[in-house]
Amino acid sequence: MRVGPDATIPRMLVEKNVPLQNANSFGIAARAHTLVRVRGDEDVRQAVGRLDLARQPFFVLGGGSNIVLTGDVRPVVLKMEIRGLALVQETPGAWIVEAGAGEAWHDLVAWTLRQGWPGLENLALIPGTVGAAPVQNIGAYGVELQDRFHSLSAIDGLTGEGFELDAAQCAFGYRDSVFKHRAPRAQAGAAWQRGMGLAGRAVITRVRLRLPKAWRPGLDYLDLQKKCQETGVARPSARQIFDWVCAIRGAKLPDPAVLGNAGSFFKNPTVTPEQCRDIIAREPKIVHYPMPDGSIKLAAGWLIDACGWRGKTVGRAGVYEKQALVLVNRGDRGDPEASVTGGEVMTLAKAIQTSVYERFGIRLEPEPVVV
Ligand code: EPU
Repeated sequence: MRVGPDATIPRMLVEKNVPLQNANSFGIAARAHTLVRVRGDEDVRQAVGRLDLARQPFFVLGGGSNIVLTGDVRPVVLKMEIRGLALVQETPGAWIVEAGAGEAWHDLVAWTLRQGWPGLENLALIPGTVGAAPVQNIGAYGVELQDRFHSLSAIDGLTGEGFELDAAQCAFGYRDSVFKHRAPRAQAGAAWQRGMGLAGRAVITRVRLRLPKAWRPGLDYLDLQKKCQETGVARPSARQIFDWVCAIRGAKLPDPAVLGNAGSFFKNPTVTPEQCRDIIAREPKIVHYPMPDGSIKLAAGWLIDACGWRGKTVGRAGVYEKQALVLVNRGDRGDPEASVTGGEVMTLAKAIQTSVYERFGIRLEPEPVVV
């Protein structure tokens, strides 16, 4: 039911008791008690200024492709719908493009390539919105958002104040950023100025990316090297890489429109070289990658697969048969009664964590945000 627009607040759209099943890529049935559609900065400021919404906990919902809803959402849901794609600056060395947080990430990638500005092609077909991309520092096929990030604009959801952050202030890590961590309550204030956690504070409204004119293909990832060999193309164009990445993802990862999922369910864990040597002695085939800082990253998909989980189903939650790192909705994602629940997904996730810990002594950390 739509209760807005309020006479004094003409533009803001507030809805009550809103079904979210089609607003999350798992297709989990849950409702938002209060949902505000955010189509511009003013909508966030108005929500902050409204007596019934002010100082309420809030939750920003983008494409819903990296969340597990474990019940109805009590915090005010800010549904991010800010649009816009623009070239904001051209320097001798780079194009700086800006996208509204509500744009689909893949549309931004495709648009930049159509304009002749390469650099995002390895990140093609990642589900979700532009505003969600910095939150978990999305990455694929050898490129992470932080490699192309310029800056972002955000609004403090407690005070309505606008601010900008550069890459250092976002504190990007592997599938991690300042937006995933909460500041201690006692230290509330201008959180971004003190470099504290911004989860539950920042509403990202616009993201700017820097696409260097000196482009070279990013072919470090094995699957892309295989494509070069198969096709005999040693120096592919950005468009060619875009097409390859779309094909590789399409073959390995389920389409959420068909089979509900939230992409990789766990982060790839890192271990010390000593731990890795110990595991290799027991499990010689373990897939591992040395990192620049000397640590070793292990393929979580391989660990889960080795524990026999690939293709398994518990309740209505399942492990995808082509990629054990992806948990899927084996219920009916179109039916609120027959769809998987967040509880079922988390029960399966915990069972997987337990068996990986028992066999390898490694604790897997979930990647999606559990709401
Ligand atoms: N593997 C198995 N069995 C499985 C799954 C994987 O043996 O069931 C092995 C593969 O054979 C491969 C290795 O594990 O040797 C790694 O698998 P893959 O290349 O599919 O990549 P990943 O490490 O599982 C990561 C990202 C993906 C990203 C791909 C490509 C994480 C958590 N996931 O997956 O990101 O698309 O690399 O760059 O870092 C996401 O974050 O949602 C996501 C899909």
